[in-house]
Amino acid sequence: MSGAAPAAGLVDRFGRVHRDLRISLTDRCSLRCTYCMPAEGVPWLPGASMLTTTELVRAAAVAVELGIREIRLTGGEPLLRPDVVDVVAALARLGPAGAHPEISLTTNALRLPALAGPLKDAGLTRVNVSLDTLDRARYQQLTRRDRLPEVLAGLAAARAVGLEPIKLNAVAMRGVNDAEVVDLVRFAVDQGYEMRFIEQMPLDAGHTWDRTAMVTQAEILDALTGAFDLTPVPGRGAAPAARWLIDGGPRTVGVIASVTAPFCGACDRIRLTADGQLRACLFARSETDLRSILRAGGDDAELAAAFRGCLAGKRAGHDIDDPSFLQPERPMSAIGG
Ligand code: 5AD
Ligand code: SF4
Repeated sequence: MSGAAPAAGLVDRFGRVHRDLRISLTDRCSLRCTYCMPAEGVPWLPGASMLTTTELVRAAAVAVELGIREIRLTGGEPLLRPDVVDVVAALARLGPAGAHPEISLTTNALRLPALAGPLKDAGLTRVNVSLDTLDRARYQQLTRRDRLPEVLAGLAAARAVGLEPIKLNAVAMRGVNDAEVVDLVRFAVDQGYEMRFIEQMPLDAGHTWDRTAMVTQAEILDALTGAFDLTPVPGRGAAPAARWLIDGGPRTVGVIASVTAPFCGACDRIRLTADGQLRACLFARSETDLRSILRAGGDDAELAAAFRGCLAGKRAGHDIDDPSFLQPERPMSAIGG
């Protein structure tokens, strides 16, 4: 396709313009975080159902044509995709010269010591790293793997090549890591990272989510205000994280309060799963089958219509707190965070 993005862009029924595409590169993972997967993992997507790199780049090209400006690669663990560097290189060249999409990645950092340099050279801008604890034994309990030192090495590698700003994501869990929020922020400030705490969402494969076990934004802020002077940062836009300056700045801390303070009203995100299904929301109950269109030889207009069709069904919000809420059938590892 060529030419400028259509004026309308990817707009849904509520007038939300979509500029952010999250692509899951694989549903596999090298960890087994308790809030995500059971110890034995989940039934993985069959290989033949996964989009090839040619297919996923083609889908992304159409999305960029429709106004997508930012592409976030997720998983599972996206760095487990063998050709992840080639995927980044191809995506970073989409769109007109001077207006390529920004490519970022959410990772557990385990493969960053080897891949940070090649990813940076391929055009990756920055990384978000999942880090729920700084305590090695607790990390092992939480992820069921004793790999904290590799994560810290991965972070250092990302910083050394300038994949910045580096954001750290921690899912806050009662009685697990909630006593560590101040230490995590101190670590991030010392190292030059941005700490962000995420309210736990009902997206785990084991359906173990329990609202009372979730640590809320209010509790996180309570713990932090005992240690830091926090000033709200205005101008959040479509960002999931509300942010605060720490002790006058310039370092910040963020909270992603998906459950107690949903930010759906400003959502600009659409998701493509590793097996080629478009989802208007993490919590969507239906998907649009892009893979079938790709494999049936569909043209760009058909793919564009599928993007628009998916968004036409996007609901105003996720309604996690509504009694009628139903957890999506797929776990987060198969949707992409
Ligand atoms: N609730 C909140 N965040 C989650 N993540 C994974 N599962 C959940 C959940 N149930 C986080 C990961 C990662 C990001 C993509 O989403 O920790 O940092
Ligand atoms: Fe892997 Fe991320 Fe799930 Fe942890 S949360 S098991 S790192 S996909």
